[in-house]
Amino acid sequence: MGFLICACLLQLLFLCSPRVAAQSQPLSPARILDAMLQDYAYRAFVRPRTGIVYNATLPGNLAGIAVSALRLRSGSLRRKGFAEYFEFGIPTGVIVQPYVERVVLVYHNLRNWSDYYYPLPGYTYLSPVLGLLVYDAANLSAVGLEELSIVASGSPISVSFSNVRAVPPGGPAPRCVWFDLDGVPQFQDLEATNVCSTYRRGHFSIVVNSSEIAPAPAPSGTVVPPIPTAGGRAKGSSKTWKIAVSVVGAAIALGLLASLMLCLVRYKRDKKLEVMERNAEVGETLRMAQVGRTQAPVALGTRTQPVIENEYAA
Ligand SMILES: *[C@@H]1O[C@H](CO)[C@@H](O)[C@H](O)[C@H]1NC(C)=O
Ligand SMILES: *[C@@H]1O[C@H](CO)[C@@H](O)[C@H](O)[C@H]1NC(C)=O
Ligand SMILES: *[C@@H]1O[C@H](CO)[C@@H](O)[C@H](O)[C@H]1NC(C)=O
Repeated sequence: MGFLICACLLQLLFLCSPRVAAQSQPLSPARILDAMLQDYAYRAFVRPRTGIVYNATLPGNLAGIAVSALRLRSGSLRRKGFAEYFEFGIPTGVIVQPYVERVVLVYHNLRNWSDYYYPLPGYTYLSPVLGLLVYDAANLSAVGLEELSIVASGSPISVSFSNVRAVPPGGPAPRCVWFDLDGVPQFQDLEATNVCSTYRRGHFSIVVNSSEIAPAPAPSGTVVPPIPTAGGRAKGSSKTWKIAVSVVGAAIALGLLASLMLCLVRYKRDKKLEVMERNAEVGETLRMAQVGRTQAPVALGTRTQPVIENEYAA
């Protein structure tokens, strides 16, 4: 019985685990944009040469965003860097992980779309969100590529923002913000009035706590609308999260019930078999006793027919 319970529990685990693993997060708008921009950036390589910056052409619904692509050998990136890739200063010592022979560095400037794709309630962007993402250059017609990681093993990559909006003196200090692919903001101090530094890929900007510069100029009008949608999205995602949890819970409960019923059915069947076996054994010993009293050949003759028939009839 113990073994049976174990087997049932194992089965339960098997029932549950694929459901839990199948829970995948829906892609954020920013990640969908990353994938689209990778595609448009790769299309910019008409007659691809390494070390040349190619500007991508975007469709009208992405007007305002600037995207470029730069193909480099990983070895050249590590040994030479790339001094000026728009605002990014890439020093020597940048290592690509996992290693591929050639990479494409995709540059994003989200300009007036920064708030839309990287909403940051409580903060105001003082410069557009800039992105630096790295992909494998092996297939220049590939779509849906996964981003590669980079690590600046020596000095960091610098991001020198141009046209940073000024903040009133005496207010909160502007800070650098960095988003990795998960979209979680991380804040750092500025290196200089318009320079941030990073050891990794991602999206970067300069922000300031907006609570103290509430009567900000015109852009505050454009900053406000995305915030409710951001809140809505957060609420929506917490709602979907709740739904997902209850679905998984229900699935687990159902699985549990099914396994329990299965256990019960098996237990009953085994019990029945046990009883039948015991009855058969009793019959056997009775027969043996009979055999003991009478002649053996006779017993063998009577043994087959009635006992087996009884067993099947039961
Ligand atoms: C690419 O775009 C940048 C501005 O984003 C511009 O300065 C540069 O001249 C363009 N390069 C080419 C080759 O068109
Ligand atoms: C950004 O500006 C472009 C024009 O340059 C416009 O078509 C687009 O709708 C604007 N995007 C947002 C989110 O305001
Ligand atoms: C902005 O500053 C105010 C006052 O210093 C503080 O209470 C608030 O938490 C800050 N907001 C953020 C998002 O850091």
